[in-house]
Amino acid sequence: MIGPRLLFGGDWNPEQWPPEVWAEDVRLMRAAGVNLATVGVFAWAALEPEPGRYTFGWLDTVLGLLHDGGIGVALATPTASPPPWLGHRHPDTLPQGPDGVRRHYGSRNHYCPSAPEYRRAALAVTEALAARYAHHPALRLWHIGNEFGTTCHCGHCAARFRDWLRARHGDLDALNEAWGTSVWSQRYSQWSEILPPVTVQYIGNPAQDLDYQRFGSDLLLGCFVAERDAVRAHNPAIPVTTNFMDFYRPVDGWRWAAEEDVVSLDTYPDPNDPGAAMRGAMSKDVMRSLAGGPWLLMEQSPGAASWRPVSTPKRPGLNRLWSLQAVARGADGVLHFQWRASRQGLERAHGALLPHAGEDSRVFREACALGSELASLSEVDGLLGTDVPADVAILLDWESWRAAELPHQPDAGFSYVQRLTEWYEPLWTANITCDFAHPAADLSRYRLVLAPNLYQVTPAVAANLTAYVASGGTFVLGPFSGVADADERVHIGGWPGLLMDLVGVRVEEHWPLPSGWAEWAEPRGAEVIGHARGGPLDGRPVVFRHGRAWYVGHTPEPEDLARLLARVCAEAGVRPVLADLPPGVEAVRRGRVVFLLHHAEGRAEIRVDP
Ligand code: GAL
Ligand code: ZN
Repeated sequence: MIGPRLLFGGDWNPEQWPPEVWAEDVRLMRAAGVNLATVGVFAWAALEPEPGRYTFGWLDTVLGLLHDGGIGVALATPTASPPPWLGHRHPDTLPQGPDGVRRHYGSRNHYCPSAPEYRRAALAVTEALAARYAHHPALRLWHIGNEFGTTCHCGHCAARFRDWLRARHGDLDALNEAWGTSVWSQRYSQWSEILPPVTVQYIGNPAQDLDYQRFGSDLLLGCFVAERDAVRAHNPAIPVTTNFMDFYRPVDGWRWAAEEDVVSLDTYPDPNDPGAAMRGAMSKDVMRSLAGGPWLLMEQSPGAASWRPVSTPKRPGLNRLWSLQAVARGADGVLHFQWRASRQGLERAHGALLPHAGEDSRVFREACALGSELASLSEVDGLLGTDVPADVAILLDWESWRAAELPHQPDAGFSYVQRLTEWYEPLWTANITCDFAHPAADLSRYRLVLAPNLYQVTPAVAANLTAYVASGGTFVLGPFSGVADADERVHIGGWPGLLMDLVGVRVEEHWPLPSGWAEWAEPRGAEVIGHARGGPLDGRPVVFRHGRAWYVGHTPEPEDLARLLARVCAEAGVRPVLADLPPGVEAVRRGRVVFLLHHAEGRAEIRVDP
């Protein structure tokens, strides 16, 4: 729990506005019930207009106004967007693409996470901010950087990558073995020959690519941790977060969440997407799972997001609905990008709580209504700070995600998140609440564990899942699983490799099809539950059960998958929050409260026995 009330507010960028506007902003924030403003996310140039010359006066005023207005502050370190002077003086702080071309300043996120000058300057401004504001009475939360995710392929990164590889593999022989460099004469004879996965003549080495993805996540995590430690040193009582994006492969959420005090999410489902409510629920469940409890919705748009080809606003009531969905699924606060709509710059068409039309507007009136609703929900006993019970876990594994999507896998169209979504959807529709879990985590509290895909299986993961089933859990494994080890060496002798005994199935061949996926598989102790219908594997066994372990060796039609998962849930004793609700009604239990969220058009009538 970050505060004694549900948090409500958004990013405020006063540096984009003349000071005359600031007092009005705070007045309107109060009118809307805002209690947290995120300040300074992109304010580096305003805070340090020249190297080493800090101009904190305006931020003193801003924080003072907020404090006087009774509004708390999430203070950001501005390090996601260095001012032009940094790149101009030190071009090596600018990120380099795999093609060797530097990305210039003039936008944002233009930094090399390895460049010593970037690191130095970022820590210096962080240190200066922390020294000045760590004990400011309005400060509630530190917001480090913004949506970490920049990748770079420069010489600084190459040097750090080699250090990272030494730590992972030990010596060059081990690295050559792990990367399979005997293929295509790629053997390295000196560490200095090793590069990031830069543009090559044909396709690069998959194990190198995989290691670079791991390295990239760890490298950025190092930047986060350095800033976190700098602000913590000044006042350990203030929690620290950084904002994650929905399903973002470059940043391994499990490793990152472990380093944060508060897990927070930026989420922008498309109002035109009929699956948006389900997808939104899914990313919120991921955040709760990463956090292991309450989390914070850091950004959503009150209206349109300006970066879509067609940026449709949210219809009346939709921002409220999705906000309540966040609270229902464990959020202790609902913040927005952004408070006041920008007049200039690339995001001038982005929605805001206070739109260009001003306070006399539908959007601002809805913002005020949401603020007061969240305030009254804060009073509800058994809600704020509580958890969301779930009997089902879906395994979420960045390792499998990265590896299964490497180039030259059997199906270039394979999407890990799409697979997860296909399995999540029928459960969401049935109002069965799911957590997400790391495959090596303690799973004993779940009745049912689903792995829509587990491409990479390590001995530790195999042992964990085997023990889980042995102690009474039910497990369902999806196709293209148990294929390779952590260094992308294919498992010999059949798949799902180390899980073959658990599911009692041996897959001989993967059989991707223009639409869908099948496998040439034989039971090895499992009972055959379903056969392929049509296509080149017509009639072959594809769904198997081996005691409480199931294997689904194809991509079923949605109705078939829904039926299968319903059966597995029933047998495992998993129940919906409420059964037989009208279509489009989502039910979630949080603490002592059951939320009913109506996503469809028109009215829905529901009888609830008290
Ligand atoms: C986020 C970002 C915000 C804003 C927003 C627009 O990715 O953190 O600063 O750009 O998108 O949708
Ligand atoms: Zn770099």
